[in-house]
Amino acid sequence: MQTSEPIETERRPVRVESPTGDGPEYEIRFPRVEEMLDQDEEWCDVFLEGKWERIRFHDYDKIYMIPGLYEALFYEALKCTSPKRVANLLTEELEEADDQPGSLRVLDVGAGNGMMGERLHAMGVQEIVGVDIIPEAKTAAERDRPGVYSDYMITDLTAMSDEEVKCLQSHRFNCMTTVAALGFGDIPPRAFMGAYNMVEPEGWIAFNVKESFVKGSDESGFSRLIRMMTEWELIHAHVYRRYCHRLSIAKEPLYYVAMVARKVRDIPEELLAALE
Ligand SMILES: C[S@@+](CC[C@H](N)C(=O)[O-])C[C@H]1O[C@@H](n2cnc3c(N)ncnc32)[C@H](O)[C@@H]1O
Repeated sequence: MQTSEPIETERRPVRVESPTGDGPEYEIRFPRVEEMLDQDEEWCDVFLEGKWERIRFHDYDKIYMIPGLYEALFYEALKCTSPKRVANLLTEELEEADDQPGSLRVLDVGAGNGMMGERLHAMGVQEIVGVDIIPEAKTAAERDRPGVYSDYMITDLTAMSDEEVKCLQSHRFNCMTTVAALGFGDIPPRAFMGAYNMVEPEGWIAFNVKESFVKGSDESGFSRLIRMMTEWELIHAHVYRRYCHRLSIAKEPLYYVAMVARKVRDIPEELLAALE
């Protein structure tokens, strides 16, 4: 895998979309890559306070601290569509089931600075609780999307305290969303289980995952997790849609699958034990 210094031709201002058109603007340059980098190796340079700063895409703490940079990088420059796609699929399924968004109590896992929460809010969902592992995510969500989350907890879903479990359980979630957050050193299957088991039976589950993570050869554990959840009749899949999540830094489409499903029952510990 080879990378050279970033190339000037890729340097361009990226303005964050805002209703007034006056969102912050960043100059971002991407490296010329000889071979495709794994998504957790991708990086770019951003011109900040008079100099170029190198930012790894997985340095979410750094990215969230700079208002609008996450949106400029992933949504404007690299055309991420996932919150919109997952929210649209969930909307279609709610309509099909004659369920109202206003009746949902949503746990948004890996909520980040609130891109999915914003979509849910726009759908008419009133109760949205965000969970993320880094405090910068909550700070950014409150700074950039105030009023979207009714509550936002910073915790590691694989190691929650009894108090945190009780607090989340008290919301009696009937929907869980997790967008652009599974795998890649982000949310592992055990954390997915922790969140899934917070949702009431019959609750809606809407998430996306990289296409290769649901193929047989995958090592993230999600392919086997989803297969076993289906075989053990823990989940009832409604929609499975392949789509372009975003572009890579080499401007190649990165394909993900979005799933909307209904929970049947909790994931038992034996299932996770069989995966690990
Ligand atoms: C790519 S961002 C996605 C944010 C948002 N859902 C979106 O669609 O823009 C992934 C988020 O998952 C969070 N994350 C990673 N590991 C986590 C974990 N174990 N538990 C909770 N959140 C986690 C990261 O901190 C980051 O905010």
